[in-house]
Amino acid sequence: MKIMIIGGGGREHALAWKLKKSPLVSHIICVPGNAGIEEIAECVPWDLSDCEGLSDLAKQNGVDITIVGPEAPLSLGIVDTFNSKGLKIFGPSKDAAILESSKSFAKELMKESGIPTPDFAVFTDCGSALEYAKNRGFPIVVKADGIAAGKGVIICQNLRDTQRAVQKIIIEKAFGAAGNKIILEDLLTGEEASFLAFTDGKTVLPMASSQDHKSIREQDQGPNTGGMGAYSPAPVITPEIHKKIMDKIMLPVVRGMTKRGITYKGVLYAGLMIKDNEPFVLEFNCRFGDPETQPILLRMEDDLMPVIQAVIKVKLSGVKLSWSNNAAVCVVAVSSGYPDVYEKGKEISGLKEVSKIKGVTVFHSGTRKEGRKVLTNGGRVLGVTALGSDLRQAVDKAYKAIDLIQFEGIYFRRDIAQKGLRRLGLF
Ligand code: GLY
Repeated sequence: MKIMIIGGGGREHALAWKLKKSPLVSHIICVPGNAGIEEIAECVPWDLSDCEGLSDLAKQNGVDITIVGPEAPLSLGIVDTFNSKGLKIFGPSKDAAILESSKSFAKELMKESGIPTPDFAVFTDCGSALEYAKNRGFPIVVKADGIAAGKGVIICQNLRDTQRAVQKIIIEKAFGAAGNKIILEDLLTGEEASFLAFTDGKTVLPMASSQDHKSIREQDQGPNTGGMGAYSPAPVITPEIHKKIMDKIMLPVVRGMTKRGITYKGVLYAGLMIKDNEPFVLEFNCRFGDPETQPILLRMEDDLMPVIQAVIKVKLSGVKLSWSNNAAVCVVAVSSGYPDVYEKGKEISGLKEVSKIKGVTVFHSGTRKEGRKVLTNGGRVLGVTALGSDLRQAVDKAYKAIDLIQFEGIYFRRDIAQKGLRRLGLF
């Protein structure tokens, strides 16, 4: 089969790496890809908002199945465009992707379906939002309604912070039209976890649990990023909590969508807060997580391709997944200045040395090739992902490997998976 992957981050590199191992896959095209993906797939530069053009590209190249990585093309309706032309594609339709593209939609659906989530209110003007915040008290969370690359969530400790956040989103339009509406939400403390599942709209098949690290600095300080590292499994998701997540969240949301006439197909990703042994939804994403996908796929023992096919054909009930007992960790290296302004074009060294370490895979994000050199080409540059017999070994391996990688201004968190290590008594 000829496969096309849409996207050019670490998640897409991990998908290409996993699919490359499938006996069912003969050729992979990745749009636009990156320097790492280039090693295993044919990379084609393209505007990811051009759904028509991408469907023509798939047709011209005889692509059998297209897999969509990022949320933006999904929210623009790439799946609908492909389906209307009889092309097979993995991911939710535009109507279904609204679970991620409108936080207010997701919150209303959760409220209606009795899915546990922090209390909230939706606003389109600063005055009413600030009045609500004053009455509700602080800290409070301000969120842009639409897609903001993981950066549209601001935790406010007082009224001044809230004023700034509301102004930034509604007046200054820091996230464009994504900020036409805002959500004010109670701040819930606890431990965050990511729960990803495949679904064909009927069956929900969970992936291994994982935990992301959203803040730029150690001990979860500083502004949010796309994700600074992840590990799997996440010990905070005990079997008891796993069952609660399936029964109280994943199944009700898929059913809630069906009730509204929307069949949700693809990956459903719940961003959770675990508090007092209860899971609460902070957000839904309509795609594989980045960087969660990197450690999850490192642990997936099955061929990914039949799972993708089963979702498309609505035959997921017949699929079972098995996960390696090993632990996996991904540590993301970013450019100096990220998540704000950063420079690109810095030469990356050490990749060859790292490729010799058994059990370590470097998934590229913002990288590009120039001659024989690999240069930085984005905020998140690459994720060093390691598999170990336990979380301690995986963490040690990942840091040993990332210490061999250099580029001007390289930064990564030194505390990825620390929460998991503490829970397991391995810290
Ligand atoms: N890891 C966060 C995300 O994929 O949105």
